[in-house]
Amino acid sequence: MKIEPFSGVGEQAKYIPALAKVNPDRFGMCLCSVDGNSYAIKDADVRFSIQSISKVFALAMCLSVKGEALWSRVGKEPSGTAFNSLVQLEAEHGMPRNPFMNAGALVLADIILTSFADPENDFLSFVRALCGSGDLEYDIEVARSERETGYLNAAIANLLKYHGTIECDVERVLHFYFLICSLEMSCRELAAAFLAFANHNIKFEYSGITLTSSQVKRMNALMQTCGFYDEAGEFSYLVGLPGKSGVGGGIAAIYPLRYSVAVWSPRLNGKGNSVMGMKALEFLTTETEESIF
Ligand code: DON
Repeated sequence: MKIEPFSGVGEQAKYIPALAKVNPDRFGMCLCSVDGNSYAIKDADVRFSIQSISKVFALAMCLSVKGEALWSRVGKEPSGTAFNSLVQLEAEHGMPRNPFMNAGALVLADIILTSFADPENDFLSFVRALCGSGDLEYDIEVARSERETGYLNAAIANLLKYHGTIECDVERVLHFYFLICSLEMSCRELAAAFLAFANHNIKFEYSGITLTSSQVKRMNALMQTCGFYDEAGEFSYLVGLPGKSGVGGGIAAIYPLRYSVAVWSPRLNGKGNSVMGMKALEFLTTETEESIF
């Protein structure tokens, strides 16, 4: 199996103008094992916009404050629709199918805004503690650029507000959501952060956010079933690990009790997932003959 033939396939996310400037031919990968080893190649230390991977961190914060009550605000079923689909949300009266589609993540943003004293800094401190890098920052230019063209997310947030699913002002929710999507991390930092989800037998407590091992396992179940939107089935079929993608071209995945892995390649397929990222992970689990299935 070779992945090089796919290196020029797809394009970086251009609907967020600031992301169109990223060199599409970057590639990085890092794997961290639960026994403390890490293996990194190419651009593994270059930071990029994590975009929807931030939804995993937001979900952890919401589960920690709301517990099972969270599921009265957002569903936990795969959607089979694009990450930014509006159709289902209207048909289902403003209840998002799951926390990883944009509608669900906007609800997570609303919950964090109403549950934490200093949401922007609390989110940042949590992710910094998870990966052990104290200098992670939001990319304000990417967040602003997305707000300027974020008509579809604004429509989703307005529909949520109409149905009473979010409490805060629509602009406040959008601002926070775009900001957390703009967080910059490298593959090494993402893999380090996701190790906490692979290691569900170790106490999950980072910057005041605590989860039980059962909650961590359930987050992994959601990544498996919903982490790749209308390509969740394909990712399970080809890779066989719980994971989460972002339109910055990153993918983070875990093998429970074995390792976490992050890969970055900005060229995306039609479903908004990294072409080479998926290929690299397919290669990893196929060559090692190890996946959760
Ligand atoms: O809301 C958006 O469109 C982006 N900020 C995030 C979308 C995303 O990363 C989807 N994942 N593949």
